Amino acid sequence: MADNNWTDTQRFDSKASQWDANAVRAALADAVARAIIAHLPVSRPENALEFGCGTGLVSLRVAPRCGRLTAVDSSEGMLGMLNEKITAENVPNVETRLLDLSLAGAASNLGGSFDFVFSSMTLHHIPDTAAFLGLLYSHMSAGGTLAIADLDAEDGLFHDDATENVHHGFDRQALQALLEQAGFGSVSFLTAHLIEKKNREGQIASYPVFLATAVKPHI
Ligand SMILES: C[S@@+](CC[C@H](N)C(=O)[O-])C[C@H]1O[C@@H](n2cnc3c(N)ncnc32)[C@H](O)[C@@H]1O
Repeated sequence: MADNNWTDTQRFDSKASQWDANAVRAALADAVARAIIAHLPVSRPENALEFGCGTGLVSLRVAPRCGRLTAVDSSEGMLGMLNEKITAENVPNVETRLLDLSLAGAASNLGGSFDFVFSSMTLHHIPDTAAFLGLLYSHMSAGGTLAIADLDAEDGLFHDDATENVHHGFDRQALQALLEQAGFGSVSFLTAHLIEKKNREGQIASYPVFLATAVKPHI
């Protein structure tokens, strides 16, 4: 059944157990994790936040570089996979939180003032980008770094299901403007990875993935 909600938790719940088995996703997560680690703040972040952590493909690579990591996702199934890994690998510093960050007030439960916020392939699932960047800004400490990986503007054929409500990637200049409107400075972009996959029309297509980094300035 088509679900027109933006936060389609059932879709991710049903994919969770097979998520890590997809080689395209694993290669993407590996490339993004390496790019994020390369852009960690000079000093080790003490209080990091990841939004849309999924099964933890990126989280568990970045966590050892942080004091502690709060890993947030709206899908119980995806978080369940991450929780299993945390237990099996005895990961000491990752706390998972089941939250839909697009809901007004949801982030008030997050607490804390994060000095590093990162994410991979989740921004395109959040309906109001400008409001969401403002929310992240308000939960960060001055001098904190933001690192967001997501699709460059795409043809709308990346996702297999045409009924899925998503942004079709992001234009870098437009996203930079939104980051600056939210208050961030030192915005820069690099290409972290190139996804080669069959699109919804069955054609092999290339989808670049950017890493946007930005800093919450000291006022
Ligand atoms: C494409 S997956 C990426 C997962 C993971 N970052 C990775 O690279 O494997 C997007 C994730 O964002 C989560 N998500 C989507 N909308 C969300 C929201 N509003 N709040 C929190 N998590 C959300 C989904 O449940 C899913 O786990």
